Amino acid sequence: MESLNLTEWKKTMYCGELHAAHVGKKVTLLGWVHRFRDMGNLIFIDLRDREGLIQIVVSGEDKELLAKARNTRMETVLGVRGVVEERGEKDKNPRISTGEVEVRAKEMIILNTADVSPFVVSDPVQASEGLRFKYRYLDLRRPSMQKNLKLRHQAAIKTRNYFNDNGFYEIETPFLTKSTPEGARDYIVPSRIYKGRFFALPQSPQLFKQLLMISGFDRYFQIVRCFRDEDLRADRQPEFTQIDVEMSFVESADIFDLVENLMAELLGLLDISVSGPFPRFTYEESMSRFGTDKPDLRFGMEISDLTETGKQVGSRIIQDAIASGSFLKTLVVKKAGNLSRGRLDKLNQRARDLGGKGIIWIKKQDEFKSSLKLEEEDFKLLWNKSGAKNEDLLLLVADERYKAANILGEIRNDLGQEENNKEQMFSFAWVTDFPLFEWSKEEERLVSMHHPFTSPMDEDLSLLDQDPARVRAKAYDLVLNGVEIGGGSIRIHNLDLQKKIFGKLGLSIKEYEEKFGFFLKALRYGAPPHGGIALGFDRIVMILAGEESIRDVIAFPKTTSSLSLLTNAPSPATEKQIADLGLKFTDQK
Ligand code: AMO
Repeated sequence: MESLNLTEWKKTMYCGELHAAHVGKKVTLLGWVHRFRDMGNLIFIDLRDREGLIQIVVSGEDKELLAKARNTRMETVLGVRGVVEERGEKDKNPRISTGEVEVRAKEMIILNTADVSPFVVSDPVQASEGLRFKYRYLDLRRPSMQKNLKLRHQAAIKTRNYFNDNGFYEIETPFLTKSTPEGARDYIVPSRIYKGRFFALPQSPQLFKQLLMISGFDRYFQIVRCFRDEDLRADRQPEFTQIDVEMSFVESADIFDLVENLMAELLGLLDISVSGPFPRFTYEESMSRFGTDKPDLRFGMEISDLTETGKQVGSRIIQDAIASGSFLKTLVVKKAGNLSRGRLDKLNQRARDLGGKGIIWIKKQDEFKSSLKLEEEDFKLLWNKSGAKNEDLLLLVADERYKAANILGEIRNDLGQEENNKEQMFSFAWVTDFPLFEWSKEEERLVSMHHPFTSPMDEDLSLLDQDPARVRAKAYDLVLNGVEIGGGSIRIHNLDLQKKIFGKLGLSIKEYEEKFGFFLKALRYGAPPHGGIALGFDRIVMILAGEESIRDVIAFPKTTSSLSLLTNAPSPATEKQIADLGLKFTDQK
């Protein structure tokens, strides 16, 4: 390695920024060797930095330079000084943005050597996720990852500017705090000073943002880390980032406007224009039309109800199902009448895997074909009522109301995504009027569908005592391409109502005073009406980046089993740390 005098080696441009307009320019570039080709008297190096790749040419006249170039390996850290030249016509590479030019090296400095990488730093990556995560710093060198994290940065800056321009303050809230219930388990941190007592990491800043409203900061936002100990999936991480928002003196419509304009700003990063109002569905509507509360509107198929028609059809199976309380739900899949028998059997199996009894299909070419035996008249009745046309495929499920819709909803997603995956589209939807509570079989009690601070709808207040399961909430979710990217509500600002809701959730006065006494006290001192939302920042960036997993837009993510393969966290504490904390373990994995 050579002696370093970086004052003489200041980068004048990023490799990835060079193009035809720079021909003739002298440049100093600093980066990593991406590829190396030795042609004897000529060496080509692809030099890579944050912004992309440039081809460096080292020609044979300068033997010392050639020898130095020959000493580089993949991932060597290299400084190159040279002149930008236009490539010969047949050497131009239209696949990369710098493909019209190359840099003829005049001087080079090896800034550091590199061991052989455990995998090749290039796209698409060949390594397993395990290996990528273990060597995440190498994985992050890949152009696609550099692009994703750049996009994430740009989205964060856009968001901050947007809220600033709209009169919001960004205010930080504590990480070492008390439980903030969002339906997951807490990560807890033992206190050394107060042995036997624990902080909880926030599942969200929910209570603090409400307290800030009580403090008079009527427009708050924060790009904030949240912590949830829950089962992980492609769009869930134990620590993730929210764009958290709260406003005083607002209705749902104000939040919708604010968020729709933010989404327009964010999609502007991709030069895509969207404008509000986004389609809105009540929970009830969304469940019956799409079989889910996360409708993917990139495709149009809708579920409809043929229970009444089903009663007139001469089929024992259908008749018996309806007589025993089932609903007959149907989905018309456009132009899918040519789906093979194998595919149809798979759909049937998928319905069973989802807990149903199977699926009935009907096709019409010259005549009706179906998995069910029916008279021509009955086929006609179902076909015409469903609105199906020749070449379409009609799918029917008889089951409990939401279950039948849900099965068809899943199948709708499978078929729709297959169709639409080719082009990037952005289809937003608001889902509103969620039930306030849902029944938890596990806990055998009502639990909040959002969180316990969500306001019931005024017109349903009278149902709170008689039929709490039917009470709707002033709650809303924002859905993008079938993914829940945000959720929020208008909050309860009345102390008595808040206490009543805790009671309905099965909390005794002692329990809720212990958990939320500080918050209930604050409600006594002039809490303004308020509401807000939190948007899943990782999920939004994932969709903008066209990725399938939020792990690809987070610099240092955990695996799906909540491990950091890079640092090996979680790891055991030392005996001293454990003793200091006053902890004792009976069973350690
Ligand atoms: P909620 O729990 O719906 O609401 O969270 C808001 C949004 O955060 C994202 N999200 C996640 N992203 C990645 N990994 C996770 N584990 C994860 N969990 C949630 C989702 C979700 O829509 N305090 C309320 C908001 C409010 O009422 O204002 C809350 O946290 O995109």
